[in-house]
Amino acid sequence: MKSSKPKILFLLVAILILCHSVEAQKNTRQNISPADQIKIETLMRQMTIEEKIGQLSLFASGWDNTGPSMNNDYKKLIKEGNAGAVLNAFSVDYVREVQKLAVEGSRMKIPLLFGYDVIHGFRTIFPIPLGQACTWNLKLIEEAERVAAIEATAAGINWTFAPMVDIARDPRWGRVMEAAGEDAWLGGKIAAARVRGFQGNDLKSENTLMACVKHFAAYGAAMAGRDYNPVDMSPVSLYEWYLPPYKAAVDAGAGSLMTSFNEIAGIPSTCNAWLLTDLLRKEWGFKGFIVTDWTAINEMVNHGVAEDNKDAARLAINAGVDMDMEGSTFLNYLGELLNEKKVSQARIDEAVRSVLEAKALLGLFEDPYRYCNKTRQETEIMTPEKLALARKMVTESCVLLKNDKQTLPIPAGVGSIAVIGPLADSKGDMLGGWSAAGEWEKCITLLEGIRNKVNGKIPVVFEKGCNVNDADKSGFEKALDVANHADYVILALGEDREMSGEAASRSGLNLPGVQEELAEMIINTGKPIVVVLFNGRPLTLTRLNEIAPAILESWFGGTQAGNGIADILFGDINPSGKLTMTFPKNVGQIPLFYNSKNTGRPFNPEKPDEKYVSRYLDVDNDPLYPFGYGLSYTSFTYSGLEATLSGDTVNIRAHVTNTGDRDGEEVVQLYVHDKIGAITRPVKELKGFQKILVPKGKTRTITFILTRDDLAFYHPDLKKYWEPGEFIIQIGSNSKETISTSIFLN
Ligand code: BGC
Repeated sequence: MKSSKPKILFLLVAILILCHSVEAQKNTRQNISPADQIKIETLMRQMTIEEKIGQLSLFASGWDNTGPSMNNDYKKLIKEGNAGAVLNAFSVDYVREVQKLAVEGSRMKIPLLFGYDVIHGFRTIFPIPLGQACTWNLKLIEEAERVAAIEATAAGINWTFAPMVDIARDPRWGRVMEAAGEDAWLGGKIAAARVRGFQGNDLKSENTLMACVKHFAAYGAAMAGRDYNPVDMSPVSLYEWYLPPYKAAVDAGAGSLMTSFNEIAGIPSTCNAWLLTDLLRKEWGFKGFIVTDWTAINEMVNHGVAEDNKDAARLAINAGVDMDMEGSTFLNYLGELLNEKKVSQARIDEAVRSVLEAKALLGLFEDPYRYCNKTRQETEIMTPEKLALARKMVTESCVLLKNDKQTLPIPAGVGSIAVIGPLADSKGDMLGGWSAAGEWEKCITLLEGIRNKVNGKIPVVFEKGCNVNDADKSGFEKALDVANHADYVILALGEDREMSGEAASRSGLNLPGVQEELAEMIINTGKPIVVVLFNGRPLTLTRLNEIAPAILESWFGGTQAGNGIADILFGDINPSGKLTMTFPKNVGQIPLFYNSKNTGRPFNPEKPDEKYVSRYLDVDNDPLYPFGYGLSYTSFTYSGLEATLSGDTVNIRAHVTNTGDRDGEEVVQLYVHDKIGAITRPVKELKGFQKILVPKGKTRTITFILTRDDLAFYHPDLKKYWEPGEFIIQIGSNSKETISTSIFLN
């Protein structure tokens, strides 16, 4: 007879596994497989407190720092089990080498997360996020993030510090380039599209990347547009205008979230228990892990809420932070704080579990080298399809701001072109800020894009004219000379890539240096001229708008910038981009945004000299270019707007006619104004949009459906509900030019 021992052993193991997994399920927040749950619980039992704290510490590899380094020997820390994640390390060989230190060199062999700022592409760089938002093409944005995820994971990365979803109404703040603009509703749609693009359907797949929504919360409202500055606002404003995109990213399943540097109403986000635990975890049900921004815990000493780094660590962990980025405060003090009973074992365990769960979700326990596939690195980066998508994104992100006398597209018979300006042939600037592993050498400049397009058939002459940001005018004369000898002039002006992004606030938003003077001189030649702008934020272009026949906003277009812009300039593609951030006339108007409130003394344009009304003495209240604005080579008219009530829904219908002579895409925008509310309502709010192709001479009927929930807003009790009454429904081509009707809801 065979021994029954193996059977009994098998039974015992099965019971053990079952007990483990029942207990694990109690602990876990995520949808973790039973095998991973067992792995996590086994580790939790075996880890020392030091090893647990190690999982809560993130260190930079030193390749690419964006702040002060607190601890340089990250390799030693990894081997000792004192690091749970690394940022700024990429390429298969390097990631493999560093991962090996963790899974072979440390006692618990827990794989590391590899984080990086993949903000608008990894190697194939797409237009900056603000430019991408101007496409109003959610599918395209999602596809771009898919490409970013494929490329980043092919180079060892498994975690991106994106999407950045901070709503911003102040273009002085340099980080507007990383965001989607000023509208919370649109921002939410874009945030969700980005998360879907990064994470795909299955985080365990070797080409999906864990997202980290940032910076929680309201970082975009930094006072006076100065980076890292405090934020102060009413709770209703926070809920209504700043929180929705974070919530949308959380609802889309973002695996992690980053705290912001700023305080809100006196409490730095990194120690804000209400924000991180009550709202995010309990109310929104966020299941991922929370990481700080770079040394944000240490900075609480400067903020003046903590005595020292130890005190700051206590505040952060107790507020709900799970991982310390680069600050070493958890590493240095959590053990002591635990002994002193200032932090509970349960809170530490909860944080550790959330980090281990992220590793499980990414499949790192099954294969720590899942993202270290050399073949993928060689074959999946910068493929022709990815470059084609980047080029398409450039064309859709370009916004045509002005086009007098059909200066654009460049006429077919033009005999010679002068390309002038400091940004016309500047490869490095094309990348824009936060360009991950983008290679500037591979960027196509505007000059190259134009030369590619004309293919030697007509002469294209280049003169730089001046630098971006100094007073040197020695190049003016040559620039004038080439302009005088050309049939058509393209002027490439703007900011350099370092002038926007982190720590790049500006108090003036004019074209820097002597560029406006250069423009004035060249435009005075009377030649047909288009100004192509490269910049990471709305600029004050009042003078340029007066003098330039045509202006095309191209942002920083990334790897394919020049090719995409040339597609627009030569009319191969009809521009369809629309601004997602208001362009003010001067900085004194800031903050200026479309969904503003009325005042008790509104300015009446028909009585321009009226005194006691809400106005400036030296500039009107209107922006230079409003939210939603952008021209096409064709023209659209709107008609037949109807809004009818059927049961609980408002059905809206309008006709859009292409009245020009070429096919064009139009972003049809739906705005609503709730006339009377318990608390005041904005003059209009974006509630829907559709990007449609309308062939020349044709009319398309578009429909929108709004539910009562769509008309709800936050009340002083921070609950969202709608109120009966009259609603003005507006449809149009931008936030200023709309046709309207109204509807009553009981
Ligand atoms: C930025 C974050 C970024 C982090 C890591 C910080 O300075 O504020 O947005 O993710 O650095 O690079």
